Amino acid sequence: MSVKINENYLLLKSNYIFAEIGQRVDNYSNENPQANIIRMGIGDVTRPLPQAVVQAFKRAVLEMGDAEKFHGYGPEQGYDFLIQDIIDKDYAPKGINLGEHEIFISDGAKCDTGNIQEIFALNNTVAVTDPVYPVYVDSNVMAGRTGAMSDDGQYKNMVYLPCIEENGFIPELPEEDVDLIYLCYPNNPTGTTLSKEQLKEWVDYARDHKSIILFDAAYESYIMEDHIPRSIYEIEGAREVAIEFRSFSKNASFTGTRCAFTIVPEELNGYDSQGQAIDLNHLWTRRQTTKFNGVSYPVQIAAQAVYSKEGQEEINKSIKYYMKNARIILENIKKICLRAYGGINSPYIWIKTPEGMDSWQFFDTLLHKAHIVGTPGVGFGPSGEGYFRLTAFNTLKNTEEAMERLSKLTL
Ligand code: MLT
Repeated sequence: MSVKINENYLLLKSNYIFAEIGQRVDNYSNENPQANIIRMGIGDVTRPLPQAVVQAFKRAVLEMGDAEKFHGYGPEQGYDFLIQDIIDKDYAPKGINLGEHEIFISDGAKCDTGNIQEIFALNNTVAVTDPVYPVYVDSNVMAGRTGAMSDDGQYKNMVYLPCIEENGFIPELPEEDVDLIYLCYPNNPTGTTLSKEQLKEWVDYARDHKSIILFDAAYESYIMEDHIPRSIYEIEGAREVAIEFRSFSKNASFTGTRCAFTIVPEELNGYDSQGQAIDLNHLWTRRQTTKFNGVSYPVQIAAQAVYSKEGQEEINKSIKYYMKNARIILENIKKICLRAYGGINSPYIWIKTPEGMDSWQFFDTLLHKAHIVGTPGVGFGPSGEGYFRLTAFNTLKNTEEAMERLSKLTL
């Protein structure tokens, strides 16, 4: 006998997109050590943790070294102090009432959006917008919910909802019945948003079809326009059909510190094979208490400081800073006569590649001729072919330098 592997992993593309880019950039940089590379690929922040967060973090670390104040295992779902601030400061002001047990603190929206599929049966039909954050697709491939990838770049048994220039990057409702629907707004990678009316169509679809929407709102704090919904629970009926994912990564620079949360309302039900309704909040609680031991106490104290007056002022400054970069990128891309989207309520700018150049060719051109790294759109799914993503997360200086280099490029 020998150990058998989970063969679903063999269905995956060999590398995760950002690992693939990292590899290519490392190779280029080893061969061209003099190249001053500006990274606008992976959506990693460059601003440090807010001072209010750092001070709280330090105090909590000191407590951990004091026998009187030390914390061992915390509650798997998170400490009440953080959960209560999320309820009072993120949701209540928008008229959304959440119960403490509906919020699950975690170490990242990537982990949660990847893990959530575990509580659903393998024979559910999954729909994703295309292009899409690869974690939603890959986690379902790993679980065995799809077939192999076809020549068109789509996995069998997965429903792709194209979001392209022709439909204004707005996904159409699926023609077939789907069970699980991943939506990410503001969208990664296209940087586009849905209005309340557009999001309501999805909530209504999910109510009619007894589907569940997995709503990734990791970029919510980049919404600048008042009419764009910040939470899916602003839509009537969403508590019956939607799980929402939020993160402290992109608003408060927690990409390396790790803290996020997921909301599973108590009204949410899935169904067993007998057609009996089962409480999804209970299933997620069961999953988390078994497989997760919670986020460390100092990190949760640090996350709580995001909600302090000083914390809020600092994160607002950072968001403004990145959104200024986004404006600069948008303006300059248009100056070189390329079409660009997003960047208004999102830190991502989605660029149509020049005529006759595919996503990877554009990636190579920018890397080799301007030493700029972005993300090839096709890495996010087949409908991303012919597009390219830049992030506004670099420093202002690097963003300006990158745009200066771009303006001198003959494409
Ligand atoms: C991205 O670049 O799409 C993000 O950094 C991915 C992530 O947050 O995991």
